[in-house]
Formats: sequence, C-alpha cells, structure tokens
Amino acid sequence: MTYPSATSDPTLSRLIYGCMGLGGGWNHDPLRTEDVAKARAAVEAALEIGIELFDHANIYTLGKAEQCFGELFKQQPGLRQRMRLQTKCGIRFADADGPKRYDLSAAHIVEAVHASLRRLHTDYIDVLMLHRPDPLMEPDEVNNAWRLLFGAGKVRQLGVSNMHAGQLRPLVARLETPLVANQLEMSLLKTAWLDADTCFNDAQAQQSLVWGDTLAYCQSQNIALQAWGALARGWYSGGAPDDAPAPVMATSQLVRELAHLHAVAPESIVLAWLLKHPARIEPVIGTANPARIRACGDAGRVVLTRGQWYALYQSARGRDLP
Ligand SMILES: NC(=O)c1ccc[n+]([C@@H]2O[C@H](COP(=O)([O-])OP(=O)(O)OC[C@H]3O[C@@H](n4cnc5c(N)ncnc54)[C@H](OP(=O)(O)O)[C@@H]3O)[C@@H](O)[C@H]2O)c1
Repeated sequence: MTYPSATSDPTLSRLIYGCMGLGGGWNHDPLRTEDVAKARAAVEAALEIGIELFDHANIYTLGKAEQCFGELFKQQPGLRQRMRLQTKCGIRFADADGPKRYDLSAAHIVEAVHASLRRLHTDYIDVLMLHRPDPLMEPDEVNNAWRLLFGAGKVRQLGVSNMHAGQLRPLVARLETPLVANQLEMSLLKTAWLDADTCFNDAQAQQSLVWGDTLAYCQSQNIALQAWGALARGWYSGGAPDDAPAPVMATSQLVRELAHLHAVAPESIVLAWLLKHPARIEPVIGTANPARIRACGDAGRVVLTRGQWYALYQSARGRDLP
C-alpha cells in the first residue's frame, strides 16, 4: 500500500492537520460539548482547504483530542471516509511503575493502538507513528507488534517521529514493511535541519550535527518528511510575544511584505517556505482557529523566488550563512 500523499498524487494537499490543540485542556476533566464543536469547526476548515490527513497522538489532551474525533464520527458517520487518520504511541506519563518515559515494547504498542481505536470510534488507523525514540526499543518487537496489528486490519501503515537516520537504519533493516513517514520539528523558527547541510564543516553547524543525513536518508527510503510546529506557533504571522528576539521581529516584517506581494495571508508564506524545499516536506499545522486554518490554504500556490527563500532563511537564523 502506498502512502497516498501529495508526493505520489499532486492533486492532494501537502498540508496535514495537527490535532494537539483539540479536546480542551491536558487534564482529566470530561470532554465538553464546546470541545467537540471546536474540533468540528477545525475539521471543516481543514477539509475545505483540501487537507485529508489528520495527525493525532494518544497523549494529546490526555486522549481527549482522539475522543473528540470519536464524537464527530458518531455524529457524522460519513466523515471517517473523507480523511486519513494518523496517531502516535510510545510516550507514557509518570505512573506507579515509573516516571515519564518512552515505551516501544510490543505490548505497549498493541495496547495503545486498541485504546486509540476505542477513543476514535473507528476500526482502523491509517498511519501509526512511534512518537519518540525509546533507547530500550528492540526492532524485532516493533515488527511483532506491527505484524499483529496489520494482520488484524487495525493499522495500515507505520511511521515514526523525532528519529534521526542513525535510529531509522536498524529499524528499517528489521521491519517487514517500509516506514512511510518521519515527523520532525522543522520550521522557520527551527532551522537545524537545514543548517546541517548549509553549515557543514563550519562552526555554525554545532547545533545541527545530530540531524546528520536524516533528510537525505528519508528521501532515499521514500519516507515522507512531515514537519511539526510548521507554523512556528504563529511567531511570524502575528502571534510573536512582545519580548521575541530581534530576528523573529525582522522575519515577521519580511513575511508580511511577502504576503502582500503574493496576495496571500502570512501563514501561507511561512508554509510556502517549507514547501519549496525539494525534500517535499509535509507541514503539520496545529492552529485550531478556523480563520488561521483557512489562511494556510494558499501555501501550495505560492512560488517563492530563490532570493525570497534565502532572505527568509537568513533573517530567521539571525546571521549570515558561512
Ligand atoms: N511529533 C511530535 O513530537 C509533535 C510535537 C508537537 C506537535 N506535533 C504535531 O504538530 C502539530 C503542530 O505543532 P504545534 O501545534 O506545536 O505548532 P504550530 O502549528 O506551529 O502552532 C500551533 C499553535 O500556535 C498558535 N498560533 C498559530 N498562529 C498563531 C497566531 N497568529 N497568533 C497566536 N497564536 C497562533 C495556535 O493557536 P490557535 O489554535 O489559537 O491558533 C497553536 O497553539 C500538532 O498539532 C501536532 O499534531 C507533533
């Protein structure tokens, strides 16, 4: 089964909707009617701009983000078929057995998927992601969990998140199925992924060394690159805090000018910058505000010049390239 992204089908949006902001607070309060209504408005706006992949994690608002979708599917039975669902497992909060930790044991993966399916009120997950690297992970165990879940029709494809190439290689070598995606923090605010290439063998590369050949490796293996935090929390589109560093302020001004020039909203410029990279990055947008979601809708049609792209990169870095 291919990962039906815009990488293989140019008619699909390359944007993904991130559901971390749905479900109310990160607490055990019950899900409220207004939380479901907020999720409905966000989903409608996302579908309207052509998004079809929705990104969850079992931990988002302690399960309530998934629960919101479960409620939406009960209310609108046709809705599930209009989207692909992605969720993640592997982060555990402190409990009687230990502190906050990562758990990619087969038992935990299988248990987490069943719990997500119950909350989501659906029979299958399109893409299951391993949320963070677990130093105790045994690739064969992950493969056993995958075999069980895939065989039972509960999960269709497998991805990872926050893993560099050195962690991917042994996993890829042991899995019976190809990994379809790796979700990483990449934005104008977090440029280490680019600095790893542009500043190689330069003192400026120190922060980015861990990235190594992650981008190139994922591309060589057809592992789609999803960017979390793609909107940089709104810092370049009107949401910067008053005490934001000077490069953020300068870049916000540049984004505003480019938005005016291209006749789109600032959000679309922030995303167009990621979309221009040849790695065919898929930005995950996390705003729950329907107007901001719609403001992202023009990102795919903005064609930044090389000069504009480098101006944004250099401005966000706050210093010249070597
Ligand atoms: N794999 C991982 O480890 C990982 C980690 C974090 C997130 N994610 C995924 O990636 C998605 C996106 O990440 P993210 O939410 O961290 O980043 P994001 O999309 O860069 O930022 C979204 C946040 O910024 C706020 N925001 C956006 N524009 C704004 C503006 N102009 N003014 C004020 N606030 C603004 C949003 O608030 P409003 O809702 O009010 O607009 C929301 O809280 C998440 O939903 C989740 O699905 C994955």
